[in-house]
Amino acid sequence: MDKLLTLTELTQQQLLDLLALGRSVKAEPDRYRQALAGRNVVMLFEKPSLRTRVSFDIGINKLGGHCLYLDQQNGALGQRESVADFAANLSCWADAIVARTFSHRTLETLAAHASVPVINALSDLYHPCQGLADFLSLSEVCPDLTALKLAYIGDGNNVTHSLMFGAALLGASMTVICPAGHFPDALMVAKAKQLAAQHGGEIRLSDNPEDIAGHQAVYTDTWISMGDNTSFAEIEAKFMPYQVNSGLMATADASWFMHCLPAHRGQEVTDEVIDGAGSLVLRQAENRMHAQNALLLTLLNTEFAV
Ligand code: CP
Ligand code: NVA
Repeated sequence: MDKLLTLTELTQQQLLDLLALGRSVKAEPDRYRQALAGRNVVMLFEKPSLRTRVSFDIGINKLGGHCLYLDQQNGALGQRESVADFAANLSCWADAIVARTFSHRTLETLAAHASVPVINALSDLYHPCQGLADFLSLSEVCPDLTALKLAYIGDGNNVTHSLMFGAALLGASMTVICPAGHFPDALMVAKAKQLAAQHGGEIRLSDNPEDIAGHQAVYTDTWISMGDNTSFAEIEAKFMPYQVNSGLMATADASWFMHCLPAHRGQEVTDEVIDGAGSLVLRQAENRMHAQNALLLTLLNTEFAV
């Protein structure tokens, strides 16, 4: 494992091992307190972030490492110097690069020209760190992930792609329910179905909100992702039947609600669901740090690497 751009870099065993290491980092923080001593991680963000930025920064600190945040005050990546030169220079000093970019192509260029591991902190196509944290969270409430029935409802986006890959690798069953025209990318769906077939899982697509029935966990995300200039008024009527509210949760007969956050209350989810007893959203947010720390312990080849 030398980078994490999509989640498909991982074998099923590597993903299971990372989740187990994440649970250990969470349960026994003292064991890992100096694991990244003397190591330095650079973070580049082209888009805003709360959870990703803070969970990496504080997480690296908890492992005894140092984190440097580079903002965009010198202009967008690739403007002052090429992304390739940027990556090569950062590799002279840093032990890893964490990047959130508009275009996934930028991350691929960073990874191609860096000599240190590159971690995708969200691109237009994937959010693998979110996927890791989400399956860590699910493993805590449903230890046998092959028995998991997960539904994702809303806009097929970067988060959906990473969730599909994670579910497929783990042999779980996942239904993706979106309005017509808003399905996840067809190539990603084909890849996820192929991975699911290899691992005994299943990925299904539907445009019917009634197909939410019979899932233990219901996941949604914003209907308009960062970088998309669509106005809410343009999509409201089309998406409202896909809102996660108490009626939809009852149809699902689901125990758990999930969201990567930030949430748009009253749009993709109602207050009573996100604040309800089955909401895992703060567990997911906390687990971003533990999952990413497991990833860093591995990519930086520490004694704890899986
Ligand atoms: N879930 C997530 O990635 O949140 P941020 O955009 O705040 O980092
Ligand atoms: N799909 C969302 C996720 C935010 C964490 C976006 O890309 O804006």
